[in-house]
Amino acid sequence: MSHHASPARLSRRSVLNVLLSVGVLGWLASVLYPVIRYLTPLPLVGPGGPVQLTRSEVTKIERDKFAIVPVGRRRVLVLEDSEGELRALDAKCTHEGCTVKYMPRDSLIVCACHNGRFDLQGRVVAGPPPKPLATYAVQRDEEGVIKVTV
Ligand code: FES
Repeated sequence: MSHHASPARLSRRSVLNVLLSVGVLGWLASVLYPVIRYLTPLPLVGPGGPVQLTRSEVTKIERDKFAIVPVGRRRVLVLEDSEGELRALDAKCTHEGCTVKYMPRDSLIVCACHNGRFDLQGRVVAGPPPKPLATYAVQRDEEGVIKVTV
């Protein structure tokens, strides 16, 4: 029984409704997206990887002998030791969670927060860390592509 509304009025109203819905949806998406993004683990290629390092991560390893690489929700320290072998370890210090780094000159992994030190197998050699760093699988192919599996 909508004999009051002319077709023109109706269509103007539905245009308005569409615009409003788009606005509301956009707003909802902008609010919800970061929350969902935060709650959902990053997509991996299969369970636990392998995850391929980006070109800039590979360049950083060439330059600094290590890079901190995000793999899923973890930070992984990928380093090249003095023999040119790659190693991958959890980059989160087992003491209070600071991000460790590799000191190529000393062949040590160090945590600057409280001077925790680990060897290249992840074993604690000094400082307060209570547990070793977890180690992960890492491979480099003939083209220099590096992949980490956690
Ligand atoms: S957080 Fe690494 S030594 Fe304390």
